[in-house]
This record gives sequence, C-alpha cells and structure tokens, in this order.
Amino acid sequence: MGASGYVGGELLRILLFHPKVGVTCATSRRYAGDYLHHVHPNLRGITDLKFMEQKPEDMVDRCDLVFSALPHGSAVKAIPYYVERGMKVIDLSADFRLKNPEDYQKWYGYEHPHPNLIERFVYGLPELHREEIKNSSLVACPGCMAIASILALAPLVKGNIIEKERIVVDVKIGSSGAGVTPSPATHHANRFGVVRPYKPVGHRHTAEIEQELNSIGESKVKVAMSSHAVNMVRGILSTCHTFTLRPLAIPDLWKLYRGSYQKEPFIRLVRDRKGLYKLPDPKIVIGTNYCDVGFEVDEHVNRVVAFSAIDNLVRGAAGTAVQNMNIMLGIDEKTGLESPGLYPV
Ligand SMILES: NC(=O)c1ccc[n+]([C@@H]2O[C@H](COP(=O)([O-])OP(=O)(O)OC[C@H]3O[C@@H](n4cnc5c(N)ncnc54)[C@H](OP(=O)(O)O)[C@@H]3O)[C@@H](O)[C@H]2O)c1
Repeated sequence: MGASGYVGGELLRILLFHPKVGVTCATSRRYAGDYLHHVHPNLRGITDLKFMEQKPEDMVDRCDLVFSALPHGSAVKAIPYYVERGMKVIDLSADFRLKNPEDYQKWYGYEHPHPNLIERFVYGLPELHREEIKNSSLVACPGCMAIASILALAPLVKGNIIEKERIVVDVKIGSSGAGVTPSPATHHANRFGVVRPYKPVGHRHTAEIEQELNSIGESKVKVAMSSHAVNMVRGILSTCHTFTLRPLAIPDLWKLYRGSYQKEPFIRLVRDRKGLYKLPDPKIVIGTNYCDVGFEVDEHVNRVVAFSAIDNLVRGAAGTAVQNMNIMLGIDEKTGLESPGLYPV
C-alpha cells in the first residue's frame, strides 16, 4: 500500500528481485491502472505489474503479507482490516511505533483510534528486537532518523558509561525524506544548496529514540534532537553528542561497539586511520541496507561523539522492512539486501 511513494518504490525495487517473494499488488489512488514504471522509471523492463486501487477483499485473497508505506494517520485506518483477517503486516509509518497511546496526541496530534492494536506490533529494529520479530506477524518499522540515532547510541546506553539525561542528537537528511509530494520547502529553488535547520527542537522521532533507549538502559534517557535539511537526495548522518561519566579511551569504545554489533549483518563499524572515509558518510551507504557506525572521543570535555550514516529509503525504511519480513518468515535475513551500493556515486 502506498506503492507510488518513495518508500513504496524502494520496496518494489527490493522485492521484485527477492527470490522468495512474488509481488502481487501495488496500490495507488492516483495511478491505479498505470504501469509501475511510469512512476518508478528505474523499474522499466523489470515488471509488467500495474498499480491498483486498494481493494481489501481482493488483497486478502492475493497476498500473505502487506507492506504499508502510507503516511501516518492513513496507515492506522487501513491496517486493522488486514490484522483482523490474520494477515502479516509491516507498517512503515509512525502509527504503531509508540507503545504509549497517549504519545500519539503529544507527538503526532491525533488520538490513536486502535490503542488495543499497538501492543501487538513489535518495534521493527532487528538489532534490538530480533527474537520478538521472529515470533510476530505485525511489525512497526522505525523512523529513518530514529533508526540511525538509536543504532549510534545503543552501545553507549547499554554500557552505562554516559550521562543519560544529556544526549544531543544532530541529524542531517536529504530531500527524499520528505516524500514524493512537492511543497515550497522541497521546491528545487528553495531546497537546493541548503543546510536548513528545519526542526531545531521537538522532532517527533525523539519519542521513539527515547522509548527504545529506555528499553535497554538501567535509567531513563533524555534526548535533545535537532534536524537539518541538507543538499542530498538520499541519506542521513546522525551525529550524537554524549558526555561520559568517567574518562574513556578508544579501546573501551571498540569493545562496547564490537560487543553490540560484531554479529550484525547490516552494521559496519567505521573508524579508520587511512582512506578518505574515516568515519561514517551517507555517500557510501546510498542504495544499501548498511548502517555505518563510528565514534570519536573528545578528552577535553569527556565527550563521545557517535556517528551513523544510512540511506533513509533503504536502511531507514524499505531495507529494514524487508529484513524484518525475512526474520518473520524464517528466511536468511540478508536475502535480497546484500548489495554494497555504488562507488563513486
Ligand atoms: N521518506 C522517507 O525517508 C521515510 C523513511 C522512513 C519511513 N517513512 C514513512 O514511510 C511512509 C511513506 O513515506 P514516503 O516518503 O514514501 O511518502 P510518500 O512519498 O508521500 O508516499 C506515500 C504514498 O501514500 C499514498 N497516500 C498518501 N496519502 C494517502 C492517504 N490519505 N490514503 C491512502 N494513500 C495515501 C500516496 O499515493 P497515491 O496518492 O498514489 O495513492 C503516496 O504516494 C510514511 O509513513 C513515512 O513517514 C518515510
């Protein structure tokens, strides 16, 4: 559902080459009856599938699993029909991410119409919830800025080495993060060349970052987040400033990060002495499901800066959604996701 959007397009790109998946329906209100490649030109010659209107009865007959790439507020209206009929659902909106129903009013400005469904959804971050995802048929994928920031910070929170109430998250994101519908803010003349603080305080993803970091640490965290629109189409760099409880050295941090991520197929620790890319850079992960994570110590103020870079449409959305599907279905979780991306791009 929502197959004409940017996330929908990425889902199709990945799923059409997935050896265990057949794509049977792709919904769009605006483009029903039109070929997919008229909207997603990179799919020309790959499939003859056409967009269709959302027809729930028909979809229940033709699908085992639904990905919803609808905006928040719309997903919550469409999804219960499929849940009630026992289908597997992977939602990419924010509608089932937050565990406390009251948080929807606070952060998204609406009263959640199905609070009883929230607890049935697992927060779809494999690095934190792999076992729950395995045993679930309903997954809420994380927000793109949230996933990058949580993965950068989780080892520090788990290790109990930082001041948990003084975490500053600074995110830079490309224009595709705003979705396919144009607005004055995304118009080329206004968007090109910017480094624009667009949500200096109160970003909605703060809620899920705190929710997830609280679930792994011994005490409550407080996250101060600011986000910037920068001159990229894809990509997120999350720069997370934390202050340590005692002086720390680089080997301590390697130990923490390796301990958390050594076996993770889609996390690469990047802290190199040589080469151009000594720390994570979104340019290197574009088109991939990797999250590159790195860190630096600032002895001057006992600060650890944790960095992470992702492609917002892949690791930040469609890639993680397919990884969740693989885990749910008992397929090797790397299936369909192993491309290393392009260099140079
Ligand atoms: N962009 C990202 O980087 C990113 C990352 C992670 C998660 N997400 C989340 O993933 C979802 C999709 O994001 P996106 O960037 O792909 O958005 P998008 O480009 O705006 O696409 C959403 C699609 O949903 C359909 N739609 C819009 N309003 C609808 C409504 N009221 N009812 C039914 N269908 C509707 C539209 O298709 P038709 O008009 O053709 O029907 C549209 O193409 C959102 O919830 C977003 O927050 C986005």
